[in-house]
Amino acid sequence: MRVLFVTSEVAPLIKTGGLADVSAALPLALRRLGDDVRVLVPGYPQVLTALESFKIEAFFTGIAGFPDARLFASTLPDGVPLWVIDCPELFQRDGGIYQDGNGNDWPDNALRFGLLSKVAAILGGQGSPLDWKPEIVHCNDWQTGLTPAYMHFSPGSAPCVMTVHNLAFQGVFPPQAISELDIPAESFQPHGVEYYGNFSFLKAGLYYANHITTVSPTYAEEIKTDALGFGFQGLLGARSSSLTGILNGINDSEWNPANDPALACGYEAGNMAGKAANKRELQMQMGLTVDPKMPLFGLVGRFTHQKGLDVVLEIAPQLVASPAQLVLLGSGDATMQSDALALARQYPGQIAAVVGFDENLSHLIEAGADIFLMPSRFEPCGLNQMYSQRYGTPPIVHATGGLVDSVVDCNAATLAQGAATGFVFNNMTAPDLLRCVQRALAVYRDKKSWPALQLNGMNRDFGWQKSAAKYREIYASLLPTG
Ligand code: ADP
Ligand code: GLC
Repeated sequence: MRVLFVTSEVAPLIKTGGLADVSAALPLALRRLGDDVRVLVPGYPQVLTALESFKIEAFFTGIAGFPDARLFASTLPDGVPLWVIDCPELFQRDGGIYQDGNGNDWPDNALRFGLLSKVAAILGGQGSPLDWKPEIVHCNDWQTGLTPAYMHFSPGSAPCVMTVHNLAFQGVFPPQAISELDIPAESFQPHGVEYYGNFSFLKAGLYYANHITTVSPTYAEEIKTDALGFGFQGLLGARSSSLTGILNGINDSEWNPANDPALACGYEAGNMAGKAANKRELQMQMGLTVDPKMPLFGLVGRFTHQKGLDVVLEIAPQLVASPAQLVLLGSGDATMQSDALALARQYPGQIAAVVGFDENLSHLIEAGADIFLMPSRFEPCGLNQMYSQRYGTPPIVHATGGLVDSVVDCNAATLAQGAATGFVFNNMTAPDLLRCVQRALAVYRDKKSWPALQLNGMNRDFGWQKSAAKYREIYASLLPTG
C-alpha cells in the first residue's frame, strides 16, 4: 500500500511531544511490513538544516489564499522517505513550531497548517503533480485536520484516516478563517467544520475523514463521554463504527537500555547491575545525595494540568519525607516551572528540577530512577510509561486512557501471575497519589517482589509490530475492492 503520512512533527528532526515519536516509528514499522509510506512535514528551520540533501520535487503556485511553496524530497535518518513543504513566509522563523518565543500561538497558524493540510490533499488527489499517488492519506491531529475536508470536496481523492493524538488541541479559529482557507462556505455548519460558532480544524478532520483512529482502546471509549469528549462526544459517538483505538508502540531500538548511548552503563533483563550505575550518575548529575538505597522517583513530561504535575508538586514534601528523592524534567506552565524550581531549592539533595527539553537526560531518568511518575488527568496513550517499563523502572499511573492499556497494577494476584508491571490509582487527588506512592515504596523494599515487577515490565513487548498491523487492516478496509 502507498500511504502518505502527514504530520506537524517528526523525530528526530523536530519534536515537542509524543506525536513526533509516533510519526517516526509508525511509518518505519509499516515500511517493514512492506508498505510504501512517505512522511510529509512543514519546512521549519530545524527540519531544513537537518536535511543532508534534498531534491526539489514540485512547485505549488497560485493556490487560492496561500503563498507559493515548494516540495523537497529527502529521507529521515532511518531511511523513511520524507517530503518537506518549503514556504519560508510561513515556516522559516525563530521560536517554537506552534508558538512564538513568548508562548503565544503564531497569529497565522490557520494559514500555516492550512497549507500543510492543502498540500497533503493535493498529493492525495487527482491533480497531484507527482507520479507517486498515495492510496491512503493518514492525517494526525488538528494541524492536518483540513486535509479530509479538502479531499471530500475534491472528487477522486484517496481515502483518509484521521488519528487523534490529543482531543484537547482542536485548532479553533474565528469563522472568517474559512473564507481564507479555500473551504466551501456551506461546510460551516454542525455537519461540517463548525464548532460552537467557531471553525475547528480538528472538527473538519473528525467529520470528513473516512476513518478515525486514536492512540489507545480506552481513550477511544473515553472520548465518546462528556467527561473527556471536549465537545466532540456527540460526533464521535455518531461515528463510533468508524472509530478505532490502537495502542501506540515504542521505537525499541532507540529506547533500549542494553545499548542506549545516553546511559552511563547498559543493562538488560537478567543483567541488571548497570541500572545502579545509572542511578548513581543521575544522582550526581542532578546534585542529589548519592545513595544507592534511597528510592528515587522520576518524572519527564510537559508541565501541564493534563500531566498532573501540580499534584506531584503538592505531594513532593511528603514523598521526600518517606524518605525518597525526586527528579523532574519538563517545561510548560510558567507557575509549575517556578514551583518545581522552588521545591528543588527548598529540598537540596532530595529534589532536583530541570526546566527545558533534554533528550539525553530523559533517557537517563528512565534508566536511573527506581519508580516513574505519570499521574496524568487524561492521557490518550502516553509513551513514557512504556519506556519506563522497558527500562526496569515501574511506573505509577492514574487509571486513564492509554495508561490503563499499558500498565498492569501490582497486587498479590498480578504478582503471582507474573503480570504486574506498575501501580495504578483511580482518583486523581493528592491523597490517592500519595497512597499509591507508599504502596510502591512497600513493594520496592521487598527484595523478592521488586525484581519480579521490574522484569515483567522489561519483558513486555511494546514494539510497533502488532499496532502497525492494525493500521494496515484499517487502510485495507478503505481501499476500493476488486
Ligand atoms: P505528550 O505527547 O502528551 O507530551 P507522551 O508521553 O506521548 O506525551 O510523549 C512525550 C515524549 O516527549 C516522550 O518521548 C518524552 O520522553 C518526551 N519529552 C517530554 N518532555 C520532555 C523533556 N522536557 N525533555 C525531553 N523529552 C521530553
Ligand atoms: C499526544 C498525547 C499522548 C500520546 C501522544 C502520541 O501528545 O498526549 O498521550 O502518547 O500524543 O500519540
